[in-house]
Amino acid sequence: MSRAARPAATLADTLVTWQKEHGRHDLPWQGTTDPYRVWLSEVMLQQTQVATVLDYYPRFLARFPDVSSLAQAPLDAVLGLWSGLGYYSRARNLHRCAQVVVAQHGGRFPASAEALAALPGIGRSTAAAIAAFCWGERVAILDGNVKRVLARALCFAGDLAQASQQQALWQLAEELLPETGVGAYTQGLMDLGATVCHRRQPDCAACPLARQHCAAHAAGQMDAYPVKTRRLKRGRRDNAWLWLCDGDAVWLCRRPEQGLWAGLWSLPEWPDAHALAQQVADWPGEGEVLPTIEHALTHLDWTLHPLRWTLPRRLSAAARARIEAALPAGRWCSADEWPGLGLPAPARRLLESSGG
Ligand code: ADE
Repeated sequence: MSRAARPAATLADTLVTWQKEHGRHDLPWQGTTDPYRVWLSEVMLQQTQVATVLDYYPRFLARFPDVSSLAQAPLDAVLGLWSGLGYYSRARNLHRCAQVVVAQHGGRFPASAEALAALPGIGRSTAAAIAAFCWGERVAILDGNVKRVLARALCFAGDLAQASQQQALWQLAEELLPETGVGAYTQGLMDLGATVCHRRQPDCAACPLARQHCAAHAAGQMDAYPVKTRRLKRGRRDNAWLWLCDGDAVWLCRRPEQGLWAGLWSLPEWPDAHALAQQVADWPGEGEVLPTIEHALTHLDWTLHPLRWTLPRRLSAAARARIEAALPAGRWCSADEWPGLGLPAPARRLLESSGG
């Protein structure tokens, strides 16, 4: 059927028209079709709000303007610039991906969603977003926001905790794609999910789909979609952190390669405040118990009990050796050095407080 013969605008047409007027157009990763820039923005935006990415993205690009500069950088420099963005496996994959693009693709991102999805850290939806924005490839995205928009528009009642239902929604997302203008459509879906079709209290009055293209709105059932049964069980954890000061230097440890904040530098950790207090009880110097830090991770509410311990200016070699032997493996990092390391956000904030 020709476009002119259609009785009403399709969902895609409606969304694209809305995006032109109400969508976002001035974000720094828009207006470029350089896959390096688009890829970087999409990876940063995977689990992070636009407002935060606006701060990190230009700094990252200033330091690593292209894929080869990123591939050549030490991982620590990449983690340093990522510090505070969270989900650090993204930064590790970013670095690996840059190296694969240089080593296996001559420094050019392969120009199809399918080939992009074979690279480290690029999932199906991210690959599709890059391909749609850079080359107008006719492929569907389905990130968390878009799942919500489509599940509502279609009253999709399948349980998205099940892979088969995710697959079914992918299929529907593909069927909704316009023949052309996939980049604008993709941006429209993202913008609608982020600015109108909120998880709670969607702003249906401002939604271009509400009148003709949203089955959940027609049924007054926006809160019923998307359906996802498996609830994440959040854990709790308490630990103590030692902020050990020797002049302007602080003792930092590299976290294990597996687990939380893998490979980042952080303060030495004890199972609890009591164990740490016992450890430092006969050390020379002065201690100060600092306010606890509540840190919420996706799967964990973590309470940290920091203790700052300041060693005396004059410390015998024997005393120093005894203290260092009691510390987890690490090293002294000066005030010139630690700001450039990849530190988890709470550790960085702590060290930045009180002129640390
Ligand atoms: N979220 C994920 N990708 C995005 C993009 N390109 N623009 C705005 N928000 C996004």
